[in-house]
Amino acid sequence: MSVASVLRTETAFDVQKIREDFPILKQQVHGKPLVYLDNAATSQKPQVVIDAITRYYTFENSNIHRGVHYLSSQATIAYENTRTILKNFLNAASEKEILFVRGTTEGINLVAQSYGRTFFKEGDEIIVSAMEHHSNIVPWQIVCEQTGAKLRVIPMNERGELQLDAYEKLFNPRTRFVSIVHVSNSLGTINPVEEMIATAHRYGVPVLLDGAQAVQHLTVDVRALDCDFYVFSGHKIYGPTGVGVLYGKQALLEKMPPYQGGGDMIRSVTFEKTTFNELPYKFEAGTPNIVGGISMTAGVRYLQSIGVDAIGQYEHELLEYGTDVLSSIKGLRLIGTAKSKTGILSFVLDNVHPHDVGTFLDVEGIAIRTGHHCTQPVMQFFKVPATSRASLAMYNTKEEIDILADAIRKVMKVFS
Ligand SMILES: Cc1ncc(COP(=O)(O)O)c(C=O)c1O
Repeated sequence: MSVASVLRTETAFDVQKIREDFPILKQQVHGKPLVYLDNAATSQKPQVVIDAITRYYTFENSNIHRGVHYLSSQATIAYENTRTILKNFLNAASEKEILFVRGTTEGINLVAQSYGRTFFKEGDEIIVSAMEHHSNIVPWQIVCEQTGAKLRVIPMNERGELQLDAYEKLFNPRTRFVSIVHVSNSLGTINPVEEMIATAHRYGVPVLLDGAQAVQHLTVDVRALDCDFYVFSGHKIYGPTGVGVLYGKQALLEKMPPYQGGGDMIRSVTFEKTTFNELPYKFEAGTPNIVGGISMTAGVRYLQSIGVDAIGQYEHELLEYGTDVLSSIKGLRLIGTAKSKTGILSFVLDNVHPHDVGTFLDVEGIAIRTGHHCTQPVMQFFKVPATSRASLAMYNTKEEIDILADAIRKVMKVFS
């Protein structure tokens, strides 16, 4: 069967049409068609996002919130419209709850420094989980150093699922905050966050969700979840790097001090005293990534035009196919076998180091990620130095998974 006909058999979700929207996928790498399976690190960009960047710099470029001239007001309108689109994307109650940040990492640091430094004290406890990305461990460790608070860790089982009974036992009168990943980047586990938030709220504790690997695969409704903070990065949802969103409940954001000082976040400044701007500007010091915000939103609209549920369903089919195909390879062990998963296929091969796997696959035109994926505690738990990780997006196909599997079989032969 030709590539085109294989792709056409998947037309219920028209992956061939979607692939046409991503110019980078058309190229060859080392003389082979590019098979891009490193989407958890960053996704590729559709033409509409690339066009939004070009259009902004060609016709709109200007600083926002400051100028009275035409271009400045056009750029301000375009930027603030993006906030409304993002508010609707997450189903937040107000634009005041949508803060532009550089990405997930900055969003978590903002909450740790602004909320944590204000409200944590000696002996307080912060709950994170055993499967966190370093971005959701280190900012809390820093604020623990600063305030005398301590981290408590929710354990997981061998499938890579959090142990909810152990989670509930971590709560006590000193518990001040819960910060957990919605979907794990190294295991693919979708955590039962609704239930976990309800537990935390029974103890009066706010919850932050790290949604870096969730919003591109699952419909997220922050009000239905009732999370207190939600954070994600533009570049993992088909948008550019250097921009992301922090959602926070207005009542909490109102109580929090600014994270950084500078232009735009002030109401008035004298050498004696500064008063701060209203939400969301209080948290947005300095000239933001204007083109990033605008083009990230082009990515969000693209995602919405296809439908996040439809994307999730298609990726799930790919995941099931990939799990079957890879599990049939002798000497391959999947790391992360949770019942509820997104399209992450992390694996180790008997007697072959993941870096050798990654290098070998690259020569075949296949891009995967190897290493600890910024989750060293996950590697320690599974007693592996690193894994090879194929991570799926809406433009991947079963044929690409077959190409991956064939290449892995070749690696096994070469290293046996
Ligand atoms: C689960 C998770 N959290 C946080 C991050 C950090 O995202 P960023 O580097 O875009 O800030 C990542 C990136 O891989 C991630 O997968």
